Amino acid sequence: MNERLRQIHHHFEPTDPITDPSRIDDQVVIITGAAQGIGRAAAVLLARKGAKIAINDLDKDKAEDVVREIRQFQGEAESFAGNVLDEEFPPRLVESVLQKWGKINCLINNAGFCHDSAIHKMDEDKFDIIMKIHNYVPFRMTRALSTHWMDLAHRDMPKTIINVSSTSGLHGSMGQINYATAKAGVVGLTKTIASEWGRYNARANAVAYGWIDTRITRPPNDSEAMMLEGQSIRLGIPENAKKWRNISDIPLGRPGSAYEAARVMLFLASPLSSYITGTCIECTGGRFM
Ligand SMILES: NC(=O)c1ccc[n+]([C@@H]2O[C@H](COP(=O)([O-])OP(=O)(O)OC[C@H]3O[C@@H](n4cnc5c(N)ncnc54)[C@H](O)[C@@H]3O)[C@@H](O)[C@H]2O)c1
Repeated sequence: MNERLRQIHHHFEPTDPITDPSRIDDQVVIITGAAQGIGRAAAVLLARKGAKIAINDLDKDKAEDVVREIRQFQGEAESFAGNVLDEEFPPRLVESVLQKWGKINCLINNAGFCHDSAIHKMDEDKFDIIMKIHNYVPFRMTRALSTHWMDLAHRDMPKTIINVSSTSGLHGSMGQINYATAKAGVVGLTKTIASEWGRYNARANAVAYGWIDTRITRPPNDSEAMMLEGQSIRLGIPENAKKWRNISDIPLGRPGSAYEAARVMLFLASPLSSYITGTCIECTGGRFM
């Protein structure tokens, strides 16, 4: 084994048997869309494991609630509210986090929503905004990290990207031609980052969630519609979406919780997965196996 390999193995295999590989002490993590749902659960969970969390979301008040929750247990977090769809926002977010903490170890591209229509009613604007939020934004966030992560001085620093896909992307989904296309794109994006940036010691993985109980899978509530790029985006899956809500389709017989979803992110962010890159883990309770 050459000297470089020996160093790497030593780095990932501490001789101290009580070192907990689920700890990510002092690592700086950016989570987009972290004011609620899966992103919020990941923010709290990763902060409890020692990370410093940059909480991004459109919803400034809810983002600040998450910061307060984390600070209550002496965790470290800061709100960086704003719309990731604005083209200038991703580099600004990366720059602000670097100014605050001096480094970035993990990026979780989680912000997202659906904007459903049957194929014949799907217009270009609805298609575009879904491609932007699920493909352009993770791409821009990743590109914004290039200078920091490709710097040889940061060669041995832990670096990992977690992108959020969906069973819609892996298997298709009625009424979601935009979302299914974009979530399939997430997998190609992730594998390309893993291929190109392995040499910088950076990992990239995706998680394809099935039915996780959050705002976007509960029945629609008009008060929660979002106005983005001149479009009103109505969140939620109708109560009568029988095929989708059929739990007999799910071997575990229930939807997953946001914390169960977030635990996969912790696994991918931590040394538990230090030799895993370029994968897409399905977190679905067994649906579509
Ligand atoms: N819930 C599920 O069953 C499920 C399944 C598969 C994939 N996903 C994906 O998981 C991710 C998280 O979704 P969730 O279920 O937690 O939904 P959620 O609605 O609870 O949370 C999404 C968060 O993203 C934020 N957000 C949306 N657009 C944003 C923007 N332009 N800029 C900044 N923040 C923005 C929202 O304000 C919200 O707080 C999404 O990418 C979603 O597509 C969810």
